[in-house]
Amino acid sequence: MGRIVYCDGRFVPEEEARISIFDRGFLFGDAIYEVTAVIGGGMIDNDLHLDRFERSLAALSIPMPVPRAELEGIQAELMARNDLSEGTIYLQVSRGVADRDFLYPEGLAPTFIAFTQARKLADTPAQRNGIAVDLAKDVRWARCDIKTSMLLGQVLIKHQARARGYNDAWMVSDGLITEGSSSTAFIITGDGRVLTRPNSQSTLPGCTRMAVLRLCAGHGLQFEERAFSPAEAQSAVEAFVTSASSFVTPVVKIGEVVIGNGRPGPLTSRLQAYYLEAALDPEAAASS
Ligand code: PDD
Repeated sequence: MGRIVYCDGRFVPEEEARISIFDRGFLFGDAIYEVTAVIGGGMIDNDLHLDRFERSLAALSIPMPVPRAELEGIQAELMARNDLSEGTIYLQVSRGVADRDFLYPEGLAPTFIAFTQARKLADTPAQRNGIAVDLAKDVRWARCDIKTSMLLGQVLIKHQARARGYNDAWMVSDGLITEGSSSTAFIITGDGRVLTRPNSQSTLPGCTRMAVLRLCAGHGLQFEERAFSPAEAQSAVEAFVTSASSFVTPVVKIGEVVIGNGRPGPLTSRLQAYYLEAALDPEAAASS
């Protein structure tokens, strides 16, 4: 049996969900999205994801399709109807339907769709063994802080990385790493500092990134928000990526260079464990 998805106000079997060919999300990528992880039947960092969802909509002057409380209700309903205990919930809002024109008419009703994807998120082979990332020119637009569905840059970069024998890619702009193709990039320096780039318009402000930095602070780990070059990344003692769908995943090779001994490092493994612990039991983690 297929999934039950949400499409413009209705829960329907996935085969019955329809949107117009004139939807601006389809024609222009004029849409934003959000991805929340579900584990143990609970959503992780969902407040952070919904805050960013609201910020992305505001950046494009698209109104909230439904009030926030209703949004959370739709997520819960999708989880329940699809019996989702581990996987992701995807939300997407486009500006709406209008005859094709770069200029959009005012007052369009946004198109709102949502669906679940059941998949294993914790203790994956990538998390256990680490991944190899290629280095690729960041070919995206200048507002990477908005979580738009316009993802062709990342689609091409990820495919190229796969074709070159890597699991993924870290993107490079002006001689500095921006981020992973769908994740935030972190390295650990020789003196044990967790390093990631500060938020700006050059990267997506990751919700998992924020959760991990809070965990560093809570567990007394040194961290710094500073941009770093591919050469600095390649001389790091450990590296990892974070995202809603990969949690904390070790990076064991960057370009041609093996990081450390080619196995996930100890600090990365600790952060992985802290993150999972907090995801499975947020209240206990907050009080520990
Ligand atoms: N992507 N940077 C980019 C470019 C991303 O696409 C993502 C997430 C992140 C990490 O953000 P967060 O920790 O909030 O998931 C960083 C999601 C998972 C996706 O597109 O499927």
